[in-house]
Amino acid sequence: MASVFSLSSAQRTPRRESPLHNKIPRTSAAGGRRRGDNSMKRTVAHGLCGAACAVLILAAACNALAAQDNLLAPTPPMGWNDWYQYECKVTDSIMRANADALVNTGMKAAGYIYVNIDDCWQGKRDEKGEIHPNERFPDMKALGDYLHGKGLKFGIYSSPGPKTCAQYEGSYGHEEQDARSYAEWGVDFVKYDWCSGEQVYKPEEMRAAYRKMYEAIRRTGRPMVYSLCQYGLQAIWRWGREVGGNMWRTTDDIGGDYDRVSLFGFQHNGLEKFVGPGHWNDPDILQVGIGKLNDDEGRAQMTLWCILAAPLLAGNDLTKMTRETLETLTNPEVIAVDQDPLGVQGHRVWQEGPLEVWMKPLADGSKAVGLFNRSASGLPITVRFAAIGVGHSALLRDLWARKDLGTFAEKYTADVPRHGAVLIRVK
Ligand code: GLA
Repeated sequence: MASVFSLSSAQRTPRRESPLHNKIPRTSAAGGRRRGDNSMKRTVAHGLCGAACAVLILAAACNALAAQDNLLAPTPPMGWNDWYQYECKVTDSIMRANADALVNTGMKAAGYIYVNIDDCWQGKRDEKGEIHPNERFPDMKALGDYLHGKGLKFGIYSSPGPKTCAQYEGSYGHEEQDARSYAEWGVDFVKYDWCSGEQVYKPEEMRAAYRKMYEAIRRTGRPMVYSLCQYGLQAIWRWGREVGGNMWRTTDDIGGDYDRVSLFGFQHNGLEKFVGPGHWNDPDILQVGIGKLNDDEGRAQMTLWCILAAPLLAGNDLTKMTRETLETLTNPEVIAVDQDPLGVQGHRVWQEGPLEVWMKPLADGSKAVGLFNRSASGLPITVRFAAIGVGHSALLRDLWARKDLGTFAEKYTADVPRHGAVLIRVK
């Protein structure tokens, strides 16, 4: 399979390193345009009522907005994205075939409903500046109708810059028009990827650039999940929500082997306070079944993503999955951890070198606990109940095996394979 990095460097922006990992200096937060500058506030300020009234109206408007955003993604969005499997070879029929497979394999029933076209669908703009798809996508509205007819949702991709990362047409200067086109096509999800944004915006203008597309989408009146992609620059988890994001990429492109997946995934400790219903950290697309993770590694990624309350976007060819891949992607008890309505991101509660224990509190008061072995050989890992805020004795269930383990006192020990994970529910 072609690697995600196989496009020539002339076609693509250079591979970025994860800011979480490399601590790329953040641009001054004070330099960014704040929510207080936005047009909604200006409208209120220009109204007839006095300051107190304006504050009340603003609070109500903000609440309504927040409520709308929360309704859009009350739990982490689940679906499929074509990028890692097809890159710029993606076509309308590939999207339809994978949508069919979502339904036929039971993935839709397991919760995967967004079908997201990534980069490379764009054609030219006409004389009025309207964007048209390229020849691989004959009719976007028809594609949207097809997906909706199957009970699925339709996702699309663009950039705040003039060009996307693969050098296709971006939305710079055409945000309103593009958002209107998306609404006409029935789009339900927009991934907005920084790419050439850095050529036209100063770093301190990044927030305003993201807010601009959010406002444009909102003015269409069609709800669309807004997925921000700028690789975690400027600590986006701190402000992604303010610019309307329902989810935001926290890292660079994850495509790769277990080392890359785990390097990025395990960096999320400490970012839990920025997550909740309607707004999620996005450590990028699942690599399960794409070819570089074995089954233990795939289950480890899935376990960690569910503990992180991360969006679950499968990235493999759904028309040709192994039974193990399908089982990894669709285990209902594992997915229930990700989709838990409390919407809390888990965090690390214990570490000994490459051995880690993470805990995610769940709505019913129980805890999901992931035991991760990042070392090169199978090893036992022990979770002490005191470390996860559970009393002396607890009832345990193994979520991958889908079986009750019984009652344990003080601690539980499991053998965890190399690069693998065990996921238990503790009550
Ligand atoms: C960037 C994004 C990827 C993908 C590609 C498409 O690298 O981070 O997720 O969308 O662009 O070109």
